[in-house]
Amino acid sequence: MAELKKVGVLTSGGDAPGMNAAIRAAVRSCIFYGIEPVAIREGYKGLIDNDLEVMNARSVANIINQGGTFLKSARCAEFRTPEGRAKAFANAKAAGLDGLVVIGGDGSFTGAMLIEKEHGLPCVGVPGTIDNDIFGTDFTIGYDTALNTVVEAIDKIRDTATSHNRLFLVEVMGRDAGFIALNTGIAAGAEQILIPEEQKSVNELMDDIANSGRAGKTSSIVVVSEGDKSGGVFELASKIEDSFPDYDVKVTVLGHTQRGGKPSCSDRVLASRLGVAAVEALREGDSGVMVGVRNQQVVQTPLEEAISKHNAIDKALLKVAEIVTV
Ligand code: F6P
Repeated sequence: MAELKKVGVLTSGGDAPGMNAAIRAAVRSCIFYGIEPVAIREGYKGLIDNDLEVMNARSVANIINQGGTFLKSARCAEFRTPEGRAKAFANAKAAGLDGLVVIGGDGSFTGAMLIEKEHGLPCVGVPGTIDNDIFGTDFTIGYDTALNTVVEAIDKIRDTATSHNRLFLVEVMGRDAGFIALNTGIAAGAEQILIPEEQKSVNELMDDIANSGRAGKTSSIVVVSEGDKSGGVFELASKIEDSFPDYDVKVTVLGHTQRGGKPSCSDRVLASRLGVAAVEALREGDSGVMVGVRNQQVVQTPLEEAISKHNAIDKALLKVAEIVTV
């Protein structure tokens, strides 16, 4: 067991609902195990700028129900340089940090892996991103909340779409992965779902829209993942309008609304489990790993694998989507 006296906690990259619950869990497990927790503000930037503060159990009171991250988050260009990481390490050492809990996505884990390799600072990652695109965990913190936010929004769009016989293209987040689009598309009853993992041509989409019309549908919702490579929702909309002049085509980009809001119960529990697991991993002397859940169990994955591998889309879900929209 590693002798840990002080552990730093930071959130980095895009924020996700449930990050606060993960910070709370990491801070409180430090206290539970007699370790001093140190908050690092604005991700790696805070380590470079020496923006650190010792926490106590009450410092993280009343945040479990709040979206965002009270520590703030950033994508730090300076930390991507060896000099930036050396500066960050010097500050970590001066503050007496024996390890870091890094809550974020693949960019954040790349930083953790590098500072550990170059300077020997033990790091454990906690997957926090709405995209659910991190290998080594079935679910990332924030994903479940984002799914619910999107479904609620599309339900509202459906009300107006049916009232006007309109076709809506709804763009959802997911820079490189279609998990949000595929699952919300099914849950909200979308007629078509476009994801980067199963690229559909514009012609195929047109055929589907024409078939929907022939099947008697008077309005349609197409969920388009941000990572889809058909040229973006606005270009798609104009192509559809050119081919179907009778259709009234509208575009809604849900954007950052998907990143905010109160975390769901599921995300709060996941964040609490993983925040505790991260500190326990450091205590056990594990580092260079990410904690995640696979088949309901907490597991560890080397950061290198978490960054380089990808969770595959469940092809059976695509079939389900096709069947339920005949
Ligand atoms: O990685 C999470 C994510 O929400 C992506 O889905 C999206 O492409 C990106 O972050 C947006 O990042 P930013 O808030 O920096 O524009």
